[in-house]
Formats: sequence, C-alpha cells, structure tokens
Amino acid sequence: MNYLVTGGSGFIGSHLVEQLLKKGHSVINIDNFDSFYDYTVKIKNTLESIDKNFVFEFTDKESDIQKLISLSESQNYTLYYQDIRDKKGLEKIFKNHKIDLIIHLAALAGVRPSIERPLEYEEVNIRGTMNLWELCKDFNINKFVCASSSSVYGNNEKIPFSEADNVDNPISPYAATKKCGEILGHVYHDLYKIDMIQLRFFTVYGPRQRPDLAIHKFTRLISDHQEIPFYGDGTTARDYTFIDDIIDGIEKSIHYLESNSNVYEIINLGESEVINLNEMLFTIEKTLGKSAIRKNLPMQPGDVLKTNADITKARTLIGYKPDTNFQNGIKKFVEWFLRK
Ligand SMILES: NC(=O)c1ccc[n+]([C@@H]2O[C@H](COP(=O)([O-])OP(=O)(O)OC[C@H]3O[C@@H](n4cnc5c(N)ncnc54)[C@H](O)[C@@H]3O)[C@@H](O)[C@H]2O)c1
Repeated sequence: MNYLVTGGSGFIGSHLVEQLLKKGHSVINIDNFDSFYDYTVKIKNTLESIDKNFVFEFTDKESDIQKLISLSESQNYTLYYQDIRDKKGLEKIFKNHKIDLIIHLAALAGVRPSIERPLEYEEVNIRGTMNLWELCKDFNINKFVCASSSSVYGNNEKIPFSEADNVDNPISPYAATKKCGEILGHVYHDLYKIDMIQLRFFTVYGPRQRPDLAIHKFTRLISDHQEIPFYGDGTTARDYTFIDDIIDGIEKSIHYLESNSNVYEIINLGESEVINLNEMLFTIEKTLGKSAIRKNLPMQPGDVLKTNADITKARTLIGYKPDTNFQNGIKKFVEWFLRK
C-alpha cells in the first residue's frame, strides 16, 4: 500500500514510518522540520526510521535537509520538506503519487507553547489539516487517520475518560485545535465520505520521545546533574503509553479503515496505567541510578491534573492491546537515551 505520513520525522511519525517500511509498504513523508525542537533530532529520527544509522555531519538546516532528502530517496520512501500550511506545495505532492491512505501526525504539539503562540497553532493544526482534507476531496482519497489528543478532555472529573464524554471544556489552545480537528474531520467525513479515525493519544513515551516532554527532559537533566523543574506537588498524573503500543494502535486503525466503509470514529489510545509525577520521577531515578535535584514550581496554566483512558472501545473495535508497563517502558527509553 502507499501511505502518506505527515510529521514522519517526528517522534511518533518516525516510528510509524519505520514500521510501515518494515512491512513492505511505500511511504511518503511530509515534514517541515519545524523549529519547535532541534531539526537535527528529526534528521536522526528520519535516518533511524529508514534504517540508515550512520554518522551524519551537520552543517546548516537547509543543506542538511537537502542532503537527507537525497540520502533517503528509495523506491519505497520519499521525503518532502514541505509545510502543510502551503496547499499549493501539497497539491504538487498529491499529483505526483497515488496515495491509498493518509496518517496525519504533523502538528504543533506542545501544550504550554500553545498559550504563547495560539495563532500559529491554529494555522498548523487547523488550516494545515483542512488543506489535507481539501486535497483528499480533490484527489479522491477516502481513508484518513488523524492524531487527536487526550488533552481534549481538559480537567474533566469523570475518570477514566471515555470517548462518549463531553469534551467542550479544553484548557489550552493546543487542546482546542485538536477538538476542532475532530469536529471538522466529521464534516469532511459526512460531506465527502472520507473514512476517518481520530486517535486520542495519551502521553506517549519511549525511544525518540520529544525532548520537550517531561520524561525525556527529566532524564536529560538528571544525567547532567542539573535541576529539574518540578511543577505542582507531584500528584498530577498521566496515563503513559509506550510508543510500540501506540504504533500498534495506529496500524490496527489503518487495518480497520481498510476493511470497513462509512467510518468516522474517535478512539482513545492509552496504556491505562496511570502514574503520578512523583512515581514517574522515582522510576527514572531508579532506572538511571541517579537522584534528581528538584526545583519546586507552581502548576503551569494549561496543564491538566490527570489523564486516564478508558480503552474499552479501542479493545473491542480495533483489537488494541497495550502491553508495556511503565517500568519496562522507562527501561527501554533510558537504554535508548544512554546509547545516544
Ligand atoms: N507525543 C504525545 O504524547 C502526543 C500526545 C497526544 C497527541 N499527540 C499528537 O501526535 C502527533 C505527533 O506528535 P509527536 O509527539 O510525534 O510530535 P513531533 O513534534 O515529534 O512530531 C510532529 C512532526 O510534525 C512536523 N510538523 C510540525 N508542523 C508542521 C507543518 N506546518 N508542516 C509539516 N510538518 C510539520 C514536525 O516537524 C514534527 O516532525 C501530533 O499531532 C501530536 O499533537 C502526541
């Protein structure tokens, strides 16, 4: 099959590309190497995803990406250095390829930066996503997996979070863009018969995790004997989901879309193992064999208190079966971190 992955050089995207290529599919990756975090990380992700693990000499962003494009080009893989906000640019790609299904992961992903730069989040996460649906309409592509987020649940008190719950109270611009994507996605499904699954990912971690996310940040700072910013009293909690489980959930969603028609579903992908910040830090310290130096800070605006996925729907509809417990997941992450 020919899959278009957006954001295929990011954390989740690079793992998905790797898995799809391993299964013998063709992949087109659209990524603009956004400056949300260092582009060199995304170059390394890309090289790992296409199984080219050699030392890359970095010079400057533009020439490095051009070098990456020529290095990575193969019969089964094409990388486009392309912004999803640029519809004309996207159109050229859609003209060049026969695309069977799109997995849309490109987004501005941080919660806290979305409070600083809400308009940019709106442009990428809403307009960029609509550009893809407009092109699906024009090029008759009717299978679409879209990354949503557990953040749409805001500070809902009913735990665990179920897809049937009301999600009208997001507490960050990021969360609101994801909710908007779910609503607009339904419009495109209804009007243009695009079969779609919106996946609400719950805090994803594992090798290649984004450097801004807490597990990665804490591990880096503890290793470097630096202070870690510790927000709140440590009781905020997250449903952590290991990357392999997420990739499995995405693959099962693809399979579901390929075997069914007239689909619009919103599905939670979580691990259903809720860990609070104190426990998370303790597990990292224990795995690294080093103690953290905490800098206690107040809770940040936009941060939710707790996430916890009800994954009954994912289990019954697509056969999702997360099986990495937090300790093992952290062990795998730390092994990856230390080998860098
Ligand atoms: N990681 C998580 O815990 C988590 C949780 C919930 C939802 N999500 C969602 O999953 C998706 C992937 O997240 P991730 O953690 O891999 O993030 P990431 O930042 O590592 O990956 C996103 C990729 O999208 C690319 N991108 C950003 N803006 C773009 C643009 N305008 N045009 C083209 N490409 C662009 C980036 O360069 C990056 O490579 C995102 O949609 C995110 O909102 C992630």
